[in-house]
Amino acid sequence: MTAFDLRDLAGTTAVVTGAASGIGAAIARRAAGLGMRVVLADFDGDRLDEVANEIAATGAEALAVRCDVTDPDDLERLAAVTADRFGSVRLLVNNAGVDSTGRLWELSPERFERVLGVNVTGVFHGIRAFVPRMLAAGGPAHIVNTASIGAVTTVPTQAAYCASKHAALAMTECLAIELAAEQAPITVAALLPGPVHTAIYESAGSDGSAGAATRDRMEAFLRENGVTPDQAADTMFEGLAAGRFWIYTHPQRADDLLRLRADRLTGHLAPTAP
Ligand SMILES: NC(=O)c1ccc[n+]([C@@H]2O[C@H](COP(=O)([O-])OP(=O)(O)OC[C@H]3O[C@@H](n4cnc5c(N)ncnc54)[C@H](O)[C@@H]3O)[C@@H](O)[C@H]2O)c1
Repeated sequence: MTAFDLRDLAGTTAVVTGAASGIGAAIARRAAGLGMRVVLADFDGDRLDEVANEIAATGAEALAVRCDVTDPDDLERLAAVTADRFGSVRLLVNNAGVDSTGRLWELSPERFERVLGVNVTGVFHGIRAFVPRMLAAGGPAHIVNTASIGAVTTVPTQAAYCASKHAALAMTECLAIELAAEQAPITVAALLPGPVHTAIYESAGSDGSAGAATRDRMEAFLRENGVTPDQAADTMFEGLAAGRFWIYTHPQRADDLLRLRADRLTGHLAPTAP
């Protein structure tokens, strides 16, 4: 993939889903700081307006679009509104994501489907709405899908999340190969954050006592050990500019987990907790 200077992004348009909070809000702020026009999408309309107003107060152009990524019509409307207002999209970040914790046999179907709906199908809807427009525009563009370090490991009581992020990563790899086969000037990257101190576990559902314990433990773990959302956003933009497909906030931890997984798969070993 081709490296470029982040200054090239000035005057172009970024679309970020899950932009009302955490990593998405930080990416939107950083994009605005680079001189990009920013379209912020989230289903939490009040917090979304707050972040968009804060960005607009810096003099940047920011458009808030309330959007549920599980609804294909919402993504289509987001793409249409963006095209009307700003023209072509240079950067799409499919970032909205949720977690629900619990042992698989205790997790409710609704929670399981919500995690898969947002983290997998939501990314698919984003790709479907924006990629045809990017291909038609013909110019350089970038797609970043936020997966997780959970995409390369398996964690008990976080099965829904791990399954969703493994799927999101596989989809992102397939997209990169498909676009390369078309010789499209569109780069694709997978953002795999490790712990980032955000509100993700405040809104996470859980079922059963094991699920509740995981949610509480993860909330404390991110508070005490997470990097800031701004650090994660900086890492994303550095990786994008370097032309990387794999963008890790915690490369050493990712390497350890990947090695463990590769050893397990090639050595035909049974899974154990990471
Ligand atoms: N925080 C971490 O440690 C961490 C680690 C790895 C990966 N991630 C991933 O980073 C991404 C951002 O998470 P975060 O930590 O900033 O969490 P967050 O909860 O702070 O932000 C997520 C945002 O997504 C929005 N959202 C949820 N469902 C939505 C839907 N259906 N439609 C539109 N918006 C929706 C929420 O309203 C929220 O504003 C997620 O994909 C998450 O899985 C986070």
